[in-house]
Amino acid sequence: MFARPIFLRVGEKILLIFVIGILTFSAIPKLALFISMFLATSSLLIPENVEHMIKTKFDNYPKGKPFSALLGDLLGRGIFNVDGDSWKFQRKMASFELGSVSIRMYAFDLINTEIRERLIPLLSSAAARQEVLDLQDVFRRFSFDNICKFSFGLDPGCLELSLPVCDFALAFDSASKLSAERALAASPMVWKIKRLLNIGSERELKEAIKKVNELAEGMINQKRKVGLSNSNDLLSRFMTSISDDRYLRDIVISFLLAGRDTVASGLTSFFWILSQHPEVVSAIREEMEKVTGSSQELPSYQEMLQMHYLNAAIHESLRLYPPVQFDSKFAQEDDILPDGTFVPRGTRATYHQYAMGRMEQVWGPDCLDFKPERWLKKGAFCARKPF
Ligand code: HEM
Repeated sequence: MFARPIFLRVGEKILLIFVIGILTFSAIPKLALFISMFLATSSLLIPENVEHMIKTKFDNYPKGKPFSALLGDLLGRGIFNVDGDSWKFQRKMASFELGSVSIRMYAFDLINTEIRERLIPLLSSAAARQEVLDLQDVFRRFSFDNICKFSFGLDPGCLELSLPVCDFALAFDSASKLSAERALAASPMVWKIKRLLNIGSERELKEAIKKVNELAEGMINQKRKVGLSNSNDLLSRFMTSISDDRYLRDIVISFLLAGRDTVASGLTSFFWILSQHPEVVSAIREEMEKVTGSSQELPSYQEMLQMHYLNAAIHESLRLYPPVQFDSKFAQEDDILPDGTFVPRGTRATYHQYAMGRMEQVWGPDCLDFKPERWLKKGAFCARKPF
């Protein structure tokens, strides 16, 4: 069974949080700011303005304090929750590590293992028994196993055949959900008082974060004991240059958050859209047979690079159903966007990947159609300008 893709559920929740947040914080005395927020938001559907905000004038558009307060207890000083020098340091290290051939091969090998030893046996077993599977749940388990192995070198085994309950995944889910729901409070004072008194959702959040911390700290201690020389995971790599355990925990938790639901949502949408386009499935199969021949093995890294049509189909799915539908920053100083829109200091500026992926001005009159071919030139994958 194809469940409703995560992007709808999470997207609806984020949209709700966004709308309620605006309404809450923009009461009548702040009407001017409210209007200016919307002006900035609508003009941020123009690619040149988005490029200006997240690239050219990047330093003027930090993540801002309102978000870091909501997520601070879970993410600490991790990359998702900081600006300035701390962000630069982590970003540099992350780019260096994630860009290396050795980590790509490490990621490729561990994903292949998860596919071969867990995903395929699970799907085969369900097919043999003609059982219905919730693919969204399967992909969440798949991505959690992968991102934990990649980040910590820990295998939570969520995708084992029995689909076990995984305490770490549950605690992590609960902590991220409750942190995000803080934005729904009528005023930040509400959750802050609840936190102070340790009651209700704040008490639950505290317990969930405690569990996540215990696991993360346990893993860091274990690694210090056994040594880092044979480990390729992200934590071991960061441990060679950082000795502050709390900071290490924060860095790795941000990676878990970054790489879990995004990948699960991307995969769910991709297979959901394929289920409606058998002609695309046939074209992917044809390409795969051409590249790998009659081999029953999973394709190698080099073979994957030759699968241009598959790459195009994935990009096309991400265009129509981006796992992150919009992203907000806060203007540090007054600014003027390339189209002349004035952005007062403190304005929340939001750009919308979901809307921009469906704009006729950007993608043409067939912008709503699923057409992998739009990413191909003479059969070769051709990336588009990111803005
Ligand atoms: C389909 C999968 C993914 C999508 C669609 C996605 C999308 C995004 C987006 C939109 C941002 C925000 C960029 C910004 O605010 O400037 C982001 C940030 C980030 N992503 Fe991903 N991501 C994906 C997978 C991953 C994975 C697997 C990892 C880690 C292994 C990862 C690590 C990060 C990190 C560390 C950041 C923070 C960057 C920063 O603040 O500079 N992402 N991602």
